[in-house]
This record gives sequence, structure tokens and C-alpha cells, in this order.
Amino acid sequence: HSVDELIARLPKTELHLHIEGTLEPELMFALAQKNAVALPYASVEEVRAAYDFSNLQSFLDLYYAGAGVLLTEDDFFDLAWAYLERAHGDRIVHAEIFFDPQTHTARGVPYATVHRGLCRALAKAQQQWGMSSRLILSFLRHLSEDDGFAVLDEALPFIDEIDGFGLDSSELGHPPEKFARLFARCRELGKPVVAHAGEEGPPDYVWQALEGLQVCRIDHGVRSLEDAALVARLAQARMPLTVCPLSNLKLKVVDDLAVHPLKKMLDAGLCALVNSDDPAYFGGYLGENLLACRQALDLSADDVVQLVKNGFEASWLPSAQKACWL
Ligand code: ADE
Ligand code: ZN
Repeated sequence: HSVDELIARLPKTELHLHIEGTLEPELMFALAQKNAVALPYASVEEVRAAYDFSNLQSFLDLYYAGAGVLLTEDDFFDLAWAYLERAHGDRIVHAEIFFDPQTHTARGVPYATVHRGLCRALAKAQQQWGMSSRLILSFLRHLSEDDGFAVLDEALPFIDEIDGFGLDSSELGHPPEKFARLFARCRELGKPVVAHAGEEGPPDYVWQALEGLQVCRIDHGVRSLEDAALVARLAQARMPLTVCPLSNLKLKVVDDLAVHPLKKMLDAGLCALVNSDDPAYFGGYLGENLLACRQALDLSADDVVQLVKNGFEASWLPSAQKACWL
């Protein structure tokens, strides 16, 4: 299909990618063996077979368990480097990457270990291919706001290498407003903030992210379409929504890609873009997300170009560099 060739060829961005969600079962097994961490699986095949999720929480339970094999700076480097090689193969020229430090500091891994390993891989990708990137420290919303303040303190010596802050993990019952003070502090540090909202949570959580946290992007946001006033607000502000179609399918946010709201979002004038979220768990990296949407939603070449352009528009690249890609 000619649109599929376009998808492969276009230079692209990735703006919603959890580095812990790129841990492929093969690397998980290799690191478990090296670090003598026990896994509740006998084989790589058994790991993959376990990736049959009923909702966000059923995924998060396995995602946090899998991340338990990451211990040393080299482990974090290897994780990120494996992702960056795939991203380069997918023609991704700019990646803004989430990491969840609380998942690691809670296990006794120092913040510095995580940070240094990831940054070393990002620097190598810049040097080797000219791939630009940003690093987004994401707070876990199932934990307390005080726990978030504690990890922010640990991260402060590295603040110059942190490009922004995010909010992820179990959405229902953990509304954005729970983190209003923490996000105000992050903004005082001069950093842009984003938040997962409207994935499983209601449109009200998207409003809270916008007004309470003052985010510059909404991660997911697919449930925004349930609220016409919210859609008008998002469209008017050109507020980016980092949509993750295969994630939504695997976590049963949608029953079928054919009924995914992505095309409706574009038609409503929203700045929607496609991302891969946790590709090792959801069965596809960025290219596969775009191909699956093209097929299920019959996206045109213009739709695909709009989605890719929205990615550059929504990125934190300086405007002169954006202009080069647009
Ligand atoms: N952490 C990793 N992936 C996530 C997602 N899709 N939603 C919330 N938290 C996450
Ligand atoms: Zn996510």
C-alpha cells in the first residue's frame, strides 16, 4: 500500500514512550540472569503469553515487575540503546522519553544510576545519528505527592539534563489535582509539564491536567471526545494529545482499532499524534502503530502527514529546528 511506504519513509517523532516499556522479554531474561533476579516465568515465550491485559492496572503489575531486573547504570544504558536503535530504524529523528525513577529508587537503585545510564544512551544516539531527544521524569500517581517531592529532590543535581516532568501509572482514583503542588514546583524550576489524562479516566481529569497542572501536552486524552466543551478548548489551544493506539487496544480502552477515536480527533481539529507508549508490551513500535491505524481507520496520505507534522509541532524542539522538519 502506497500510504504504508509513506509511513516508513517519513522522518518522525516519538513523544510518548516509557523507556521501561521498551524492555523486550529477551533483555528481561538476560538481565534477570546476570543480576540474579528471580522472574515468575520459565521462558521468553511464557513472558509474551502473559501479556494479555484486561485493563491498565493488569499491565502495570507486569510492567513494574519486569523493571525489577534493571539494577546497574549499564542496564539502563542497554535498555535505552536497544530502543534507540529500533527508533532509528523506524526513521524517528526526535524522541521525548519518559522514565519512572520511583520504580527504581523504591528498590534501592540510586536516582543517579538510572539517570546516567539513560543519558549516556541518548548522547550516543545524538552523536551517532544526529537523533535529538528529551528526557521526561515521570511521577507515579499511585504514590503520594510527598513521594514525588522526595524523588524530585534526588533528581535536583541533574536538573539541567531533565527537560520536563510527567505523570503516569494508575489513573482512576488518582486525579491530576492530587499533584498540583508538585507540578507547581516543577514549573517554578522552569520546566514544561505533561500528564497522562483521559486514558481510563474521565474528561474531568483532562480539565484538571490543563487548569490545575497547566500541562503543555495531554498524554492519551482519548476520552476527551466525551466532552464537547473540552474538545473545543483543546482544539482552540492546539493542545497536543499523544495518542497510543496499540496501547489503547491492548489495555481495552477500545475494543477494536476500527472504532479508535484517532480519526475523529483529527477531524475535530485536535493536534493528535501517534506514539507507542510501551511497545515491548503492546506488540508494536511507532511504525507498527501507524500501519495498524492506517489499515483499521483507512487513513489517507494526508492524515498520515498531518499526524507526523503534529508530532513535530508538539515536540519541545526549538522552533527553528521544527521549521526544518515541517
Ligand atoms: N506507565 C507506562 N505506561 C502507562 C500508561 N499507558 N498509562 C499510565 N501509566 C503508564
Ligand atoms: Zn504512557
